[in-house]
Amino acid sequence: MKFRKQLFGFMDMLRFKKMVPTRRRMLAEGPNTPLPQEYRTNVLAQKLHPGYMQVELMAARSLTPTIRELTFRRLDSQEFPFFRAGQYASLQMRIGDSLVSRPYSIVSTPRQALEGKLVLAVEKAGFVSSYLHETAKVGDRFVMTEPSGEFHYETLRDRSHIVCIAGGSGITPFLSMAGSLVDGDEDYTMTLFYGARTAAQLAYKQELDDLAAQSDKLKVVYVLSDEEQPRCGTGFVSAQLMGKYVDLTQVTFFLCGPQAMYNFIEKELAPLALPKKAVHHDAACCGNLSVGTPKTFQLTVHMRDQVYVVPAREDETLLTAMERAGLNAPNKCRAGGCGFCHSKWISGQHRVAEGRDGRRAADIKFGFIHPCVTYPMEDMEIDVPVAY
Ligand code: FES
Repeated sequence: MKFRKQLFGFMDMLRFKKMVPTRRRMLAEGPNTPLPQEYRTNVLAQKLHPGYMQVELMAARSLTPTIRELTFRRLDSQEFPFFRAGQYASLQMRIGDSLVSRPYSIVSTPRQALEGKLVLAVEKAGFVSSYLHETAKVGDRFVMTEPSGEFHYETLRDRSHIVCIAGGSGITPFLSMAGSLVDGDEDYTMTLFYGARTAAQLAYKQELDDLAAQSDKLKVVYVLSDEEQPRCGTGFVSAQLMGKYVDLTQVTFFLCGPQAMYNFIEKELAPLALPKKAVHHDAACCGNLSVGTPKTFQLTVHMRDQVYVVPAREDETLLTAMERAGLNAPNKCRAGGCGFCHSKWISGQHRVAEGRDGRRAADIKFGFIHPCVTYPMEDMEIDVPVAY
């Protein structure tokens, strides 16, 4: 046994001695062709995850008095990445001195993305959406993030029959989900309840009717609260109304609309005691806090080798303060969930919007914050990565 060990040690030494001449010989014998510059895996990864894209508004149309549809193409003429129906893309633009962005659910289907087209629909509400609604014109250029978000069907998690409930402009992700079903890219049965005050406020009704006519796995039920119309329900999307169409205990719910709708549906579904995973909400952006007379603090922002000192109101998020000052701070969901704005806290008291703390335990322990859901309570100092 001892002898064999010695023998192997000796052979290793011989190999080691020959290593340099062996390598030299192999290099000399190798082909003289240059190394490849592109690898297929990298090309595919870049297609699926281009990060930020330069886009141009190529068409715009009004769907209702308050909802405007915007169609984009990429400036580099590439296709958009394939995505999961229900996801969003964030659009960044400069308005005055501010560098702002907002996430919008994608209306078009993943297949249309491969044809170089991506459609968003914007409801006239708030600073950025009002700009897109009233001022943005065909030919304008923007920066868009790759599609993101967890609001999509998941085969292993969700039941094969999904009930989607839309309120107002919350119809947008469901148009993509319905289109993807008809395209054959998703495999579920979908019952969509679409609530609005009046028929005039129903966006995409014709498109939804056309899709429903193409698939017996898609049913659309319109519910109007303020008027009666043929082939539309009246009132609200209640459990009783939905129960006429589906067994509510055997489906997965997807909700997209205003907070008041979520509160109403939550109460309606409470008696069913559904598991948490049976109901998904699309997260809305974190808004301003309700503060009587908000104070303004100083926010010191480190970005690479630069330091900026900007005003930060106590009722606005740190992200809003940075955007107002024109700083290019990274963000996507603006709801605390994606972690894309993840920044290092250095000093200063702050608070996180209720129910929006999506940080991992390690992030909290090592002092990281999500500026999109964090409000200052005194002067603060943070270290933020540059978006691009
Ligand atoms: S932008 Fe998604 S967590 Fe802040």
